[in-house]
Amino acid sequence: MTTATTSSSEPRHRGGLGLPILLHGADYCPEQWLDRPDILEEDLQLMAEARMTSVTVGNFAWSALEPSEGKFTFEWLDRLMDRMHAAGIRVILSTPSGARPPWLARRYPEVLRTGPDRRRNLYGGRHNHCLTSPVYRRKTAEINRRLAERYAAHPALVLWHLSNEYGGECHCELCQEAFRAWLRARYPGGLDDLNRAWWTGFWSHTYTDWRQIESPAPHGESTFPSLSLDWRRFVTDQTAAFMLSEIAPLRAAAPRVPVTTNLMGAFSGLDYSRLAPHVDVVSWDSYPAWHAREEAGTGFISDAAGRDWVVAAATGFTHDLMRGLKGGAPFLLMESTPSVTNWHPVRRLKRPGMHVVSSLQAVAHGSDSVQYFQWRRGLGGFERFHGSVVDHRGGARGRTFEEVAEVGRILDALPFAAGAAVPAETAILFDWESWWAIRDASLGPERGDTSYLGTCMRHHRPFWAMGVPTDVIGPGADLARYRLVVMPFLALLRAGLADQLDRFVREGGTLVVTRGSAVLDEHARCFLEGAPGPLAGMLGLQVEETDELYPGTTNRLAVRAGGLPGLREEYGISGRCDLLRVEGAEVLGVYGSDFYAGTPAFTVRALGRGRAFYFAAGFDDSFLADFARVLSRQLGLHQALEADLPEGVSAQARTAGQEELVFLLNFATAPRTVDCGSGRKDAVDGGPAEGAVTLPGFGWKVLSRALSR
Ligand code: GLA
Ligand code: GLA
Repeated sequence: MTTATTSSSEPRHRGGLGLPILLHGADYCPEQWLDRPDILEEDLQLMAEARMTSVTVGNFAWSALEPSEGKFTFEWLDRLMDRMHAAGIRVILSTPSGARPPWLARRYPEVLRTGPDRRRNLYGGRHNHCLTSPVYRRKTAEINRRLAERYAAHPALVLWHLSNEYGGECHCELCQEAFRAWLRARYPGGLDDLNRAWWTGFWSHTYTDWRQIESPAPHGESTFPSLSLDWRRFVTDQTAAFMLSEIAPLRAAAPRVPVTTNLMGAFSGLDYSRLAPHVDVVSWDSYPAWHAREEAGTGFISDAAGRDWVVAAATGFTHDLMRGLKGGAPFLLMESTPSVTNWHPVRRLKRPGMHVVSSLQAVAHGSDSVQYFQWRRGLGGFERFHGSVVDHRGGARGRTFEEVAEVGRILDALPFAAGAAVPAETAILFDWESWWAIRDASLGPERGDTSYLGTCMRHHRPFWAMGVPTDVIGPGADLARYRLVVMPFLALLRAGLADQLDRFVREGGTLVVTRGSAVLDEHARCFLEGAPGPLAGMLGLQVEETDELYPGTTNRLAVRAGGLPGLREEYGISGRCDLLRVEGAEVLGVYGSDFYAGTPAFTVRALGRGRAFYFAAGFDDSFLADFARVLSRQLGLHQALEADLPEGVSAQARTAGQEELVFLLNFATAPRTVDCGSGRKDAVDGGPAEGAVTLPGFGWKVLSRALSR
């Protein structure tokens, strides 16, 4: 778990969980099968065949651990821990707060969640708990303490897994009071400060008593951007506070056992950058919609033509985002489906090969594990049709089982990947607060280039397609280790970031800022000097007006000859277009049509030893690809393979000491040939891997070579 910082020129090697192997495991629910010891026996046999090395246990087991208040029944878990240890399987032990027994909710109704409409939920489902309730915190701390005291020294235990997918919010009176207390701490100057920060002169909202402040509600306040922003911040902080109340008894009784919680990737509800510092290792649950067709409104990243590499690129972004939460340290893939995901709108089976290649993708981007939800399908409950390693036919060893075992075989062959770094010199700056501000700030609906997440993914994709390892980092990250930082649509500029970016550029960094950035301050207020606020000097420009194009209509980017060699003369523009007044920037391209034809659209400003680019509009994908190629050549950015990758193939590198692994993954259905150069070996199956290597559809290869540095 140590994280050694090295200079940016050396490969970074970080601990992650610090185990000498890549874990291969699954969520396991023996508490649902306690009356079937024969099934539990069979599970151990099948786990060995599937080459499982870890299980996550106890995630929703509160009823089995405390069937009535104060009566604890750990004996089944004792036996399970011992059996797993004897079988050489590591246990990730979960705290049970994600769902609670009916007796608890009945006895203490305050533990249940209240919706934005101020109605308290009935008992049911999961994740249905108040973030503030002192009773719930006491009850979870109590059972966590008992788990920790009982299993702290158990040799099978490698990691605590906190709750399950923290998320959601509660609007009960306890939470309203906590919100007001949080606001008092945030605005120590009192209501005057708050009124100024929230711009409450608008629509006569000036508050004169803290008790007048309420959380957003569909039948109350839903249009005040600064209030919404502070509410979202509060929900994150309250979730972190709840999480810390879960962690305290674990750390007290088991100080050497690391802690994680399963995150949900690009989940907008919580600012994960504020949760990550409290856990020892980041883990997340990845459920991409493989083989999906785009369906309006489903919110899934997919492609109208069903191209899986589009999904793979988005998934690669999300892995990079999760890795970035702890400064590039390896993370864990806590859950993924071995076959179908029951809650997807269309439940596609993973096509043959997809399971292996998508599992290896996680490892390629820095995961030290491949884990599944779930080991065995239950016979009842909401998830009885979710994918599993073992299906309802029990011991039947079908196609899915064989592919899972194949993942186990590959991970077994790659122990030296555990803890290995991703050698990124390129970063995309991503900030949950900008995401929230864009949604709340009536900058327009989330579509096309106005979708924050989609915009960030679009700017990441060309680097992914070239095999340029890329970190996705938060605004607090150390920029010094990067040569290139791309900051797409960072609407909300946190205090201090402008100075940090200015320093990065002056010291030789290349920065790319895209339109819509720096339009709001940290309170979601506009800047008196307009956009891009305090970045105007560094970029050498001001935004004077912004036009929006109808969906389906375009403008053109006319690239100036001699500006940036390697670009075409013309590209497409869609979405919003900033009309600029340039004050010090060099103009590299202008608009091709409309009343602002000929005015600047694409600029660069040299500053110190670096430079800062500005894209005034949504440039098309071919521009982003060409621009990324030009920059990576100019800057000599590290590429996993010095080869042009065919469409659909991903190449990702991980480095450990003097060893470099390259994961070549074909997300196309057709075979693809890649030039692997010389000096590389096949890290899994042995033998040389040089020159032209052909990967079948959904095929893969892991290459290794010694680094000469
Ligand atoms: C109406 C209202 C104004 C303002 C404008 C905005 O006309 O009267 O207060 O909201 O719409 O278009
Ligand atoms: C999430 C949860 C699991 C399960 C899976 C199903 O990741 O953590 O408990 O519900 O989804 O996809």
